[in-house]
Amino acid sequence: MKAITLEKLDIDTTKTFKPEAGNGSTVDHRKTIAMGLSQVLADSYKVMLKVQNYHWNVTGPKFFMIHKMTEEQYNNIFAAIDDLAERIRAIGYLSPGTFAAFNKLSTIKDSDMELDENGMLKDLVASHQTLAMTAKAVALKADELKDLATADMLTGRIEVHEKFAWLLGSLIEELSPKKNSK
Ligand SMILES: [Fe+2]
Repeated sequence: MKAITLEKLDIDTTKTFKPEAGNGSTVDHRKTIAMGLSQVLADSYKVMLKVQNYHWNVTGPKFFMIHKMTEEQYNNIFAAIDDLAERIRAIGYLSPGTFAAFNKLSTIKDSDMELDENGMLKDLVASHQTLAMTAKAVALKADELKDLATADMLTGRIEVHEKFAWLLGSLIEELSPKKNSK
């Protein structure tokens, strides 16, 4: 087994060291992947907060379903966030961990407290879809750069967020296939 060598990190801080990745990725490749993972992490944090916000504040006839569904979702995303941040560390870079950094990195808009329950559902569906697209773009890049562990982790996240979008979207009557086929 090849010994792990340490080299100085060329971004963020000179006090941090990164191990040579077992997959043989170059420093440039790992930096690209770490930046991509940071975007997925930031999107995930912002989506988690939005899911939790609507979990708390939604009102209306679908309250109970939305309240239950969103609880499952923010718990899932919370666990994923830890894995994403630790993957960034494992490939040798610092993980972002402030709201300022997440706002800078993410394309997810903050919650809109003017929305009614259907508006909240649509906002959540769009947010999950955006996050799935971010994860897909980074997964494809990781695959291209032969970081299969990152590609695999992100492929799992795509599946989860597409499923969450479908589950929430199914509560929106106007998106029902029956209604569309009329
Ligand atoms: Fe709760």
